[in-house]
Amino acid sequence: MHPFLKACRREPTDFTPVWLMRQAGRYLPEYRKLRARLGFLELCKNPEAAAEVTLLPVDRLGVDAAIIFADILLPLEPMGVGLEFSKGEGPVIRNPLRSGEDVRRLGAVDIQAAVPFVFEAIGLVRRALDGRVPLIGFAGAPFTLASYLVEGGPSSDYLHAKRLMHDDPAAWRGLMEKLVSITVGYLNGQIAAGCEAVQLFDSWVGTLSPEDYRASVLPYTRAVLQGLTPGIPVIHFGTGTAGLLELMREAGGDVIGLDWRVDLGEAWRRLGHGVAVQGNLDPAVLLARPAEIGRQAQAILELAAGRPGHIFNLGHGVLPETPPGHVADLVRIVRRRP
Ligand code: CP3
Repeated sequence: MHPFLKACRREPTDFTPVWLMRQAGRYLPEYRKLRARLGFLELCKNPEAAAEVTLLPVDRLGVDAAIIFADILLPLEPMGVGLEFSKGEGPVIRNPLRSGEDVRRLGAVDIQAAVPFVFEAIGLVRRALDGRVPLIGFAGAPFTLASYLVEGGPSSDYLHAKRLMHDDPAAWRGLMEKLVSITVGYLNGQIAAGCEAVQLFDSWVGTLSPEDYRASVLPYTRAVLQGLTPGIPVIHFGTGTAGLLELMREAGGDVIGLDWRVDLGEAWRRLGHGVAVQGNLDPAVLLARPAEIGRQAQAILELAAGRPGHIFNLGHGVLPETPPGHVADLVRIVRRRP
């Protein structure tokens, strides 16, 4: 079994496996070249191009896992919410959901019809990888998906989402239940197409109090995790989650993703060593000199103390400003290759 999959199961490995979120992305010149020809959604919907972008960092960086090139918002497009990716702003939802009426009006999603291109790209990547490294699939967790649908795009305070959660619990439940079913279908479809592990991104859940997470989010995240095809390791990831780690563990996942705002050793003790962890270098460190990158990566490896079940990653995605050479240096440092 590949060291990445062993680490997900907390089995010993000869080295700490490493992969990076947004390892295919705007910091790579080859990606920017493709994006000059194709819009982001066009690229996602072209299985050959998406497969090519997925494979780029595997050859270039020597990471221990590939992550399929796609997006957490793709399965929401057929709901009729007006999904667009505008230049420099990230995703936009033209028709955000603000009331129970908006939620009830949402179109149903037939996942096979919605994202056939993602499943096709997964097949192409598996064939091209030929067993070199495992392929990770992914989806957004219900809260993070709801935050885009209700806010209409990225947000710093999530006031519309929180107002719906607090003032109209029935509408919130209706929305979260729809998102559970879409997310289970999206992830199980990726597993059926050939993904060997999956990551659930609850990227923005750190905005919530523990009380709101427990009451209004945890049951739905747990329902997603319990609905997945058994035997496939699941990474449960969020940012700003220092106040929620024990609750995220309760929701489930074989691996808990940590961001850089927590000390990895302390976070792992709080979670208990019966679960694997992934993380947690600050992506901004990759802008620094290689000596500083090495020092900070080493410090994280020391906190993990060689315990089985540590997967090295950034605490969030690679920033567009990152020099590609620094990313390759990091992978070499973690893998202890000269
Ligand atoms: O890691 C990988 O290389 C796999 C591909 C991947 C993308 N999106 C491609 C992408 C993954 C794993 C995602 C997940 C995703 N998408 C998340 C969760 C991860 C996270 O960042 O917390 C979220 C919140 C989204 C929604 C989304 N899509 C945002 C916020 C943005 C724009 C901002 C940004 O950081 O780039 C996107 C667009 C997007 N998705 C890009 C890529 C490579 C950039 C598109 C471009 O301009 O070329």
